[in-house]
Amino acid sequence: MTEPVPAAEAAVEFDRVFLRLGGRDVLRDISFRLIQGETAVLLGRSGAGKSSALRLVNRLLLPDSGTVRVGDRATSQWDPIRLRRGIGYVIQQIGLFPHHTVASNITLVPRLLGWEKARRESRAAELLRLVGLPPEEFAERYPRQLSGGQQQRVGVARALAADPPILLCDEPFGALDPISRRDLQREFRELTSRLAKAVLFVTHDVREALLLGDRILVLEEGRLAFSGSRAEFESSSTSEVRALRDDES
Ligand SMILES: Nc1ncnc2c1ncn2[C@@H]1O[C@H](COP(=O)(O)OP(=O)(O)O)[C@@H](O)[C@H]1O
Ligand SMILES: [Mg+2]
Repeated sequence: MTEPVPAAEAAVEFDRVFLRLGGRDVLRDISFRLIQGETAVLLGRSGAGKSSALRLVNRLLLPDSGTVRVGDRATSQWDPIRLRRGIGYVIQQIGLFPHHTVASNITLVPRLLGWEKARRESRAAELLRLVGLPPEEFAERYPRQLSGGQQQRVGVARALAADPPILLCDEPFGALDPISRRDLQREFRELTSRLAKAVLFVTHDVREALLLGDRILVLEEGRLAFSGSRAEFESSSTSEVRALRDDES
């Protein structure tokens, strides 16, 4: 008899993770789990280790000790290319290819996966509508013909192109003007609640964290100083949580 395969509980799990870079302890004893359909925000000051934590998930980094699990196995056991196909990654410097159209930028991964042209085109149109850019108007434009906010929308569409179960976002709206940022935050929240992805979202902005996070994880100098719901964050007396809240008000 074979053992029943246990249902994958966590989409992403950090289990006692330590990371050193350039002789510094960047992450110290980090443990948490992210389940499908949940948005967790990693909140902390600059240098707290947020971006490094995300890079552990798509295996741009490997932990020095402990385990980062994605799906059913440790990142060290994943082929990095296959792992990354299941993970959308949105960063601040979105890095659209300037000589490719918006549609072509969005369907980068589907092209690598060998999707036929018709399927890619309909997927690009679907995603453009999803992020609020009418495809008739935007599909054939080039990145330089877009505002910063529109470029970030294309970045989100590109990350979602092959429908990955996991989405990593590293301060994706950080460089936008306040009004575009508020619009994108609201739309992003609606989008992720509809798509049921596991989302790990990095920010240093408390308001953004409270708007987007089902759960908030506070990193302080590489340690997990707090993990809890929005309500728990707002009433927590943990010193780093209080400091972040005070900076905000
Ligand atoms: N490749 C690296 N080599 C050495 N130190 C690094 C490297 N990458 C990041 N660090 C250091 O690790 C710490 C955390 O960086 P990072 O994860 O980028 O923080 P955050 O995203 O929270 O601002 C910082 O002190 C940073 O200088
Ligand atoms: Mg960072």
